[in-house]
Amino acid sequence: MATKAFPVFVLLSLFYLSVVLAHSHDKKPSPFEFLNNLQGCHKGEKVKGVNELRKYMEKFGYLSNNTQSNQVEVEEDDDFDELLESAIKTYQLNYHLNATGVLDTKTVSKMSMSRCGMADIVNGTTRMRSGKKNADRHGFSHFHTVAHFTFFAGNPKWPSSKYHLTYAFLQGTRSDAFSPVRRAFTTWAANTHFSFSEARNSGNADITISFESGNHGDGSSFDGPGGTLAHAFAPRDGRFHYDADETWSVSANPNAFHLETLALHEIGHLLGLGHSSVEGAIMFPTFSLGETKGLHGDDIQGIRTLYNV
Ligand SMILES: *[C@@H]1O[C@H](CO)[C@@H](O)[C@H](O)[C@H]1NC(C)=O
Ligand SMILES: *[C@@H]1O[C@H](CO)[C@@H](O)[C@H](O)[C@H]1NC(C)=O
Ligand SMILES: *[C@@H]1O[C@H](CO)[C@@H](O)[C@H](O)[C@H]1NC(C)=O
Ligand SMILES: [Zn+2]
Ligand SMILES: [Zn+2]
Repeated sequence: MATKAFPVFVLLSLFYLSVVLAHSHDKKPSPFEFLNNLQGCHKGEKVKGVNELRKYMEKFGYLSNNTQSNQVEVEEDDDFDELLESAIKTYQLNYHLNATGVLDTKTVSKMSMSRCGMADIVNGTTRMRSGKKNADRHGFSHFHTVAHFTFFAGNPKWPSSKYHLTYAFLQGTRSDAFSPVRRAFTTWAANTHFSFSEARNSGNADITISFESGNHGDGSSFDGPGGTLAHAFAPRDGRFHYDADETWSVSANPNAFHLETLALHEIGHLLGLGHSSVEGAIMFPTFSLGETKGLHGDDIQGIRTLYNV
């Protein structure tokens, strides 16, 4: 009996071991991994991946999406052209890199960082560019003190009858996210003229929170582990989505993204803030594993300016 069972046991063990090993090698690369093949890339080159780079620049607002039915061929283009170079330069200005238009190591490493899914430049009208950089370009030294927060195109905001907002977690939301999100609302309330309360019924809440995966029907797909982490829409939309495929944590954890930090950022969008070029601001677009952050003077000044309070 035992001698017959033995080889089966060995085979099963080997099978189990190979499954475990396969999974450990199966760690998905970041959705932004394609950027690594583009190190050093610049205008005039034709390199596989440039088309993906163009899509990245469109998603985050640096290139306009002028897709028309007859432009399918342009979409598949791997030529690094002048428009793309100019988009890279704008990106580099926003992220305090040398605006060379070349995909140098520092630019690739910044662009590869996981980040908020919202665009940095909305509808071509909002610049995340810092006042200092504008000053350098135009020579107006008094611009040095200009703040770095931005708003959405058309400055959408909540009306004064709506300075108390209700929020609700959609059914199925992982319960360990409740406390971090509640704390983030409390922090914004303590620093602005807004107040918040939790509604039991999401049907009539001003703001809803949920975890979504991949293409979830709002025109802004998530992309699995890494890449984009969360997004939230401008007033008065009220939707705040976490990417369900990320590893999230309640406390600071070097292998996970911090729920409360991303909530602080996304609530900024819900209140009308765009991305800021101040690295210390909660509205700066990128977030590392384990990174925790609070509100910054730039974020608070942004709300005060938008609402004139
Ligand atoms: C560009 O816009 C079209 C139509 O609005 C959309 O179907 C397509 O997915 C967009 N492309 C990108 C890269 O965002
Ligand atoms: C920009 O270029 C200068 C001169 O080449 C270099 O010293 C500096 O480190 C660069 N800065 C960044 C952010 O890459
Ligand atoms: C974006 O720009 C277009 C044209 O400039 C304008 O018609 C449209 O209303 C703008 N959208 C938003 C959301 O501001
Ligand atoms: Zn954002
Ligand atoms: Zn969404």
